[in-house]
Amino acid sequence: MTKSIFITGGSSGIGLSTAREFKKNGYRVGICGRNQQKLDALKGEFEVFNVDVVEREKLQYAIEKFAEGGLDIVFANAGVSHKEKTKIPDFEDCRKIIDININGVLNTFEPAVSIFLKQGHGHLIATSSVAGFNGHPGVGAYGAAKSFTMKLCETFQIDLRRSGIKTICVVPGFIDTPLTQKNNHSMPLIGSSEAIATKIYQAVIKDRANVYYPRTFATLVRALSLLPRGIYRKFMSLERFNYSSKEKAEFFFDKSSLSKETQELQKEKKTFDSPCVSICDYEMVGDEKICQTCKLISTEKSAWKETTDLKVKNKIAKKVMQRRL
Ligand SMILES: NC(=O)c1ccc[n+]([C@@H]2O[C@H](COP(=O)([O-])OP(=O)(O)OC[C@H]3O[C@@H](n4cnc5c(N)ncnc54)[C@H](OP(=O)(O)O)[C@@H]3O)[C@@H](O)[C@H]2O)c1
Repeated sequence: MTKSIFITGGSSGIGLSTAREFKKNGYRVGICGRNQQKLDALKGEFEVFNVDVVEREKLQYAIEKFAEGGLDIVFANAGVSHKEKTKIPDFEDCRKIIDININGVLNTFEPAVSIFLKQGHGHLIATSSVAGFNGHPGVGAYGAAKSFTMKLCETFQIDLRRSGIKTICVVPGFIDTPLTQKNNHSMPLIGSSEAIATKIYQAVIKDRANVYYPRTFATLVRALSLLPRGIYRKFMSLERFNYSSKEKAEFFFDKSSLSKETQELQKEKKTFDSPCVSICDYEMVGDEKICQTCKLISTEKSAWKETTDLKVKNKIAKKVMQRRL
């Protein structure tokens, strides 16, 4: 019989690449997300469900409906990050993260466990993050939620194995997806969603408990959790780890260092349609203007958009870091 996997947050990034990886390997694949347009575009490839993982009963219904054709794996992958890193917590944003990244995992696992217990087998997979190893500046609720997922998976690996239920915890470092494309800080050793999807598939085949990818970065961040906490706190209190993009922009840029052209534009009170241009400088890369702080690009002064070119992003982030030092 064809094997089946249900993936929350399967319409983008890691979830979408994983859906394609399992499909390629002969699985029947169901995905859920909230954006109907994204789901419509994927209708031909997968069984799609427009469900918010926060809505427990609707998600239970979708998983049970999909399971009528069999269910071997659920992948609780849907997740969001903070709107931006801030020193002063945005509690509303924190609650949203807890709802989606914690309750979303429970809401996904609950109906699946009940199906798996009856059939005597099944795989639970969830996406945690290296952010779950330590308290990271500016992203408290995200790290706490990912730590929750990591510990929940470890417990299930102990408690449920004898009932035939295997659990895999996916622990990504930086992965190039729409989630990270909005980041304005450097993302060392960033990996691809296709590569982590292959690792997830292999973990199922090879009966592994955890997927760490990119492994070197995960090991480095994990090593930080072994430091005496006082040393860790001092290290992470360095200004370079503490910023929101606005705080960072104010910290980096002294208006007198702005290019002549920008200073002229400011004098004339002409502003670009960019959230940060009043305090940021930009550089030319080819015929594109690139804002050095928030990585917006423009070929015309009035049309700013986010760059998707990772190399350009990393180059700018590196420059910004150098300016700070
Ligand atoms: N990218 C990284 O570097 C990285 C690192 C560590 C961990 N992670 C984790 O990996 C997972 C996937 O992230 P990604 O990078 O692939 O991000 P992504 O490209 O933004 O994809 C997130 C997916 O989750 C869905 N989603 C978000 N909130 C949802 C909700 N309430 N209900 C249902 N679906 C929801 C989104 O679809 P809709 O918007 O249509 O709902 C989308 O399909 C997340 O849990 C994230 O925290 C990512």
